[in-house]
Amino acid sequence: MIHVHVTSWFLGLILFFVTYMLYKKNAGKKSKIFHMILRVLFLAILATGGHLLAGYITDPGIVNKGPLIIKGTLGLIMVGLMEIILVQRKRGEGRLMNWVFFWITLVLVLFYGYIVIG
Ligand code: HEM
Repeated sequence: MIHVHVTSWFLGLILFFVTYMLYKKNAGKKSKIFHMILRVLFLAILATGGHLLAGYITDPGIVNKGPLIIKGTLGLIMVGLMEIILVQRKRGEGRLMNWVFFWITLVLVLFYGYIVIG
């Protein structure tokens, strides 16, 4: 399950940047198709992450569940920010603050996923 999770967020990130570029270039239908595929990946990220999280939360052997809950929350924020950034790009609005939050959250989610939880 962890491999499916990592594969889906990794592909999701790549597709997010591709879709962003397509919206920026006003690629019309093409950007819409990429956005739709990305949304399917969002579902995969949420389902695999949620499944992993549910497994850990109900595991009595894990005493400190805090980092896992933080990791899951950061993952949710990450997906939300990707969607917000794309919808705003589509409308022709660019908000610098969303990119600031995006990069901070990405660094934190990778830090929690690989270093804190490991
Ligand atoms: C774009 C969004 C996301 C990114 C970039 C991301 C990133 C990561 C990374 C780097 C890991 C560690 C992988 C490893 O140890 O090999 C991980 C694991 C995990 N993620 Fe996500 N994730 C995202 C979304 C989510 C969501 C939405 C949830 C829950 C609702 C979630 C829950 C988890 C859980 C429970 C683990 C298992 C921790 C472990 O066993 O190491 N993630 N994720």
